[in-house]
Amino acid sequence: MCICPHSCAGLKREDAEKMVYSATKRRRYITFCVSVIVCLFIFSRSLTQRLMFGECACHQCVMDLRHDTWFRQRFSPHTQPLLTKKNSVLSKALYLWWQKLQFKSKVNYTMVAEMLFAIFPNEEDYSDAGPGRCRTCAVVGNSGNLKKSRYGPLIDAHDLVIRINKGPTAGFEQDVGSKTTHRIIYPESAVDMDNSTHLVLIPFKTLDLQWLISVFTSKHIDRTYTPVKPAIKANREKVMILHPGFLKYVQERWLQKHGRYPSTGFITLIFALHICDQVSVFGFGADESGNWHHYFEENKHNRNAGNHGGSYEYRITLTLHEKKGIRLYKGW
Ligand code: C5P
Repeated sequence: MCICPHSCAGLKREDAEKMVYSATKRRRYITFCVSVIVCLFIFSRSLTQRLMFGECACHQCVMDLRHDTWFRQRFSPHTQPLLTKKNSVLSKALYLWWQKLQFKSKVNYTMVAEMLFAIFPNEEDYSDAGPGRCRTCAVVGNSGNLKKSRYGPLIDAHDLVIRINKGPTAGFEQDVGSKTTHRIIYPESAVDMDNSTHLVLIPFKTLDLQWLISVFTSKHIDRTYTPVKPAIKANREKVMILHPGFLKYVQERWLQKHGRYPSTGFITLIFALHICDQVSVFGFGADESGNWHHYFEENKHNRNAGNHGGSYEYRITLTLHEKKGIRLYKGW
């Protein structure tokens, strides 16, 4: 009990100071804890999302296969699909491999590459993969199995619809859809495309790059090993070019060198694996006699026609489907 008011007041002040001190300490402690929790939350958000949702925001992601040995032996996350100014210098080994695909040419690749990026966009597109992204893609091949499939609305529901070579939509909408965000071509397979479609060139040879430049400038190249269109309708701002190193990677890692070089369709499928989170594949597969038939024409193509290992490509496609890396729609 307090007898003297001064000492009593002193004690009260001491107590009050202690109380203020401990309250401040508590507040600082709480602020510290909250900051740690917020930081942990922010830094672990991507990890949490990965654990909860996998490698992307879709319910199933291509990259969920990253622990699969078969997939890891083939998929190289560091291989750049697109040619940019920064990665346009080719190693000697790559240049020699690429030259072997083409007939002898005296064209100076370095000069052509410099011209390319003075004319076309030089962007590193699609490098935004992460746990917050769910980019769905439809790869639409040209197989006759699309006839009567009624896949049109399903194909159009994808974020990206990647079509190949001449594969038309007009008159076939119910089966193949009408949306085209990307069309993969080479000079000999080029067709007109609308303003919103990305023209994606596969440069099988240096002349293909010169043809692309010519299409948007002088329009003077009308022949490669066969007559080609000197001009096509396409948006220059939407042009993309696959990297020759990407073609080598598809041929060596994915196809184990089966065939001389991969088919446009198979290159497109692997391109989609690299830029999409979910890949649906339509219009792949030969007919019952093993012919590469088309949904838009009657004449038949030999399945292993030309230089592609068609059967091996299809086996890899089926394996990817079985492992749930892609979803293959086999058609009618
Ligand atoms: O015939 P084209 O090369 O234009 O077809 C595009 C792609 O579709 C081919 O490169 C091939 O990968 C695929 N395709 C297929 N089965 C077919 C026709 C084409 O797998 N019957």
